[in-house]
Amino acid sequence: MSEAIIKNPPIPNNYGTEFLCFDRGENSTLYDISGKSYIDFAAGIAVNALGYKNDRIIKVATEQLKKIMHTSNLFTTRPVLELAELITAASPLTDKKKKERTEPYFTAVHFGNSGTEANEAALKYARIYAKRSKKDHGTGFLALENCFHGRTMGALSVTYSKKYKDPVAPLIDGTDFIPMNDISALEASDPSKYAAFILEPIQGEGGLRQITKDYAEAVNTYCRNNDIILIADEVQSGIGRCGTIFASEQFGLEPDIITLSKPLAGGLPLSATLLPKKINDLVQVGDHGSTFGGGPVQCAVAAEIWKVVIEPGFLGQVKLTSNYFETKLDSFVDEFDFIEEQRGRGMLRGLALKNPEGLPTLIQSARDQGLIVLRSGTNILRMAPPLTIDHADLDKGLGILHTVLSALK
Ligand SMILES: Cc1ncc(COP(=O)(O)O)c(C=O)c1O
Repeated sequence: MSEAIIKNPPIPNNYGTEFLCFDRGENSTLYDISGKSYIDFAAGIAVNALGYKNDRIIKVATEQLKKIMHTSNLFTTRPVLELAELITAASPLTDKKKKERTEPYFTAVHFGNSGTEANEAALKYARIYAKRSKKDHGTGFLALENCFHGRTMGALSVTYSKKYKDPVAPLIDGTDFIPMNDISALEASDPSKYAAFILEPIQGEGGLRQITKDYAEAVNTYCRNNDIILIADEVQSGIGRCGTIFASEQFGLEPDIITLSKPLAGGLPLSATLLPKKINDLVQVGDHGSTFGGGPVQCAVAAEIWKVVIEPGFLGQVKLTSNYFETKLDSFVDEFDFIEEQRGRGMLRGLALKNPEGLPTLIQSARDQGLIVLRSGTNILRMAPPLTIDHADLDKGLGILHTVLSALK
């Protein structure tokens, strides 16, 4: 057994009892403490968008660390303000059907530390809107089957999997789950019950299923007609992962709140809950808060990453890489009978296995041969490499994957 495998460390059993211990990384290559290298198709679960040891991130973080590291949210700093400006400026011009809107739809950004916190905040803001904007509005939530929104009690309440919920139930009640892309089920849902509809345009943990454009339009209409807050959880799909800043844009989804986290600060903990004026106008001092959320170092790094992602050419390159990735994975679907289909979009890709039982072995063999991959749902081999992965590393990783798949034939 490799010296890089650490057994039974004093870490809760949530993640198992054996850990591969990494030492360092360079762009899309990781090195464990024994010096063995791995191509990284996981990016810390879709987090390290600009890879490891990125010069721009290191420079910005170091400069900010030397200036000021923390102030709490009773005060603010330039990086926080700059990031909030960048994010709101990139936001859609809202309801495109109402042509008179020209200003960005999102006018405020609530910063937290993690995806679950971003969603926790979104649910709270939706309830604040429901309670303060009108008389008899419902406070419940609508969500999709197989969705994953996080592990704190609120976000877990709107998460589908019973496996995560049952051990800690009871949770917040009042959430209904409906099947994705089933417009009849949506229209049959009693809108008077809900403050918000929360959904992932592409389900990251739950199997990489995507909403259709027709469904997005039906959801827009349902939420707009009933004044229900539409929350797009883009914690995994956002900030270029699927080829655009927000994946919602690609489906025509028009959310009232967007939540972002994983790649936002490239590996430092940070989340953003984007709010429109109609909600922010109702927020009062003390409604929500966080000691650490949106610290100056995280925000300085996130602002730099945001600037990289919106630089002309960056997303174009991501598209070229992802097209190549898609073509190669399609060829695996053709070659191996035990693969049902390819799922995903952009640099968030999956191979759906016909038989889920083979998945753990596949992930383990890939790792043994120097490739880190992920799982999604029960039968999906998920891949989310750094957006900056180069062709040589992508090919190397795909080569390892091909060898591992061939062994299963
Ligand atoms: C879509 C989505 N929402 C929320 C979360 C929760 O994020 P975190 O683990 O940072 O709390 C995740 C994490 O995988 C996610 O994929």
